[in-house]
Amino acid sequence: MSYRKLGKSGLFVHPIALGTMQFGWTADEPTSFAIMDAFVEAGGNLIDTADIYSTWAPGNPGGVSEEIIGRWMQSRGLRERVVLATKVRGPMGPGGSEGRNHPLQREGLSRAWIMRAVEDSLRRLRVDYIDLYQVHWVDNQVPIEETLSALTDLVHKGYVRYIGCSNFSAWRLMQALWASDKHGFESFVSIQPEYSLTMPTRMNFERELARVCETYGLGVIPYSPLAGGFLTGKYRRDQPLPESVRAQGIASGRFSEQNWKILDKVLEIADRHGAHPAQVALAWQLSRPFITAPIVGANTVQQLQDLLPAAGLQLGAEEIAALNEVSSWPLTRTEREV
Ligand SMILES: NC(=O)c1ccc[n+]([C@@H]2O[C@H](COP(=O)([O-])OP(=O)(O)OC[C@H]3O[C@@H](n4cnc5c(N)ncnc54)[C@H](OP(=O)(O)O)[C@@H]3O)[C@@H](O)[C@H]2O)c1
Repeated sequence: MSYRKLGKSGLFVHPIALGTMQFGWTADEPTSFAIMDAFVEAGGNLIDTADIYSTWAPGNPGGVSEEIIGRWMQSRGLRERVVLATKVRGPMGPGGSEGRNHPLQREGLSRAWIMRAVEDSLRRLRVDYIDLYQVHWVDNQVPIEETLSALTDLVHKGYVRYIGCSNFSAWRLMQALWASDKHGFESFVSIQPEYSLTMPTRMNFERELARVCETYGLGVIPYSPLAGGFLTGKYRRDQPLPESVRAQGIASGRFSEQNWKILDKVLEIADRHGAHPAQVALAWQLSRPFITAPIVGANTVQQLQDLLPAAGLQLGAEEIAALNEVSSWPLTRTEREV
């Protein structure tokens, strides 16, 4: 298995990354341990989490996914084997109505919060450094220079090896790259956007961001590459929804005529290869020149094992062209030329 360079960083990652938003939400701790064991056994190394995972599970205060990973890493002694990525930005406690500078304000991208948040993540993860520290989404109330200056200090302190961003628009990313260049701050080495064959997700990323990433050498590690399960084949037209806490959200967000046509094409190609449909969706991603490693989510070892062979699945040029065609819309001239 050949590992891929993450942008201009010195990190090399397996083509399939493991997301852990499910841990402490839809996968309990023993299942999460088993999923991570199976992942590293298959050669996987990039594990993605966030401080806020998974605050949407009832009663979960956040930090639970990081804690599970921390206990697993410690019990397995695998620190050097894993490329550990986490995130800061989301709310980790109360304080919203009391003002951003209130001591209880536990969110955002201010220097004050980043300095506290990183120490909390290191403690929960039981490590003394994070490989890739990502800002989860923009913070309109804090200048990007303040955020980048704080992140640069974390790299100098040895808390963090590289920095990345997630959910940035093209202009926000350019603004950040420019600020790093101008002030000599550390620069984002990667971006984590939502990206899959489904629409409009695909074209939203390809319209402008993909070109920025290619031009400036950023690694791209997309989330929800299976559209939250839609591209696994278990959602079908006119059939009852599958058992999943995410099913209602998938139905309202992904069910559209174009997405059913995309799924039909995925199923047809999967059938031809005798492969799981999710593998086709992932193999298509890996054929895109600007993609480094899609971040998949799994609730069981079996789900993960269905996905991992995607790293070795070669789609034909005609199959890739057919998937591109069914999942695109024409770009305007300006969009084509960005
Ligand atoms: N940066 C961000 O803002 C952001 C946002 C979202 C996610 N993420 C990261 O990206 C990771 C992946 O996101 P995601 O969970 O949305 O990705 P995804 O890979 O598109 O969807 C994963 C879901 O698909 C279903 N699934 C996976 N394998 C399957 C199989 N073999 N058969 C049937 N169903 C299968 C499971 O859901 P069910 O079992 O419930 O059907 C699983 O939870 C997260 O864990 C997180 O680390 C980041």
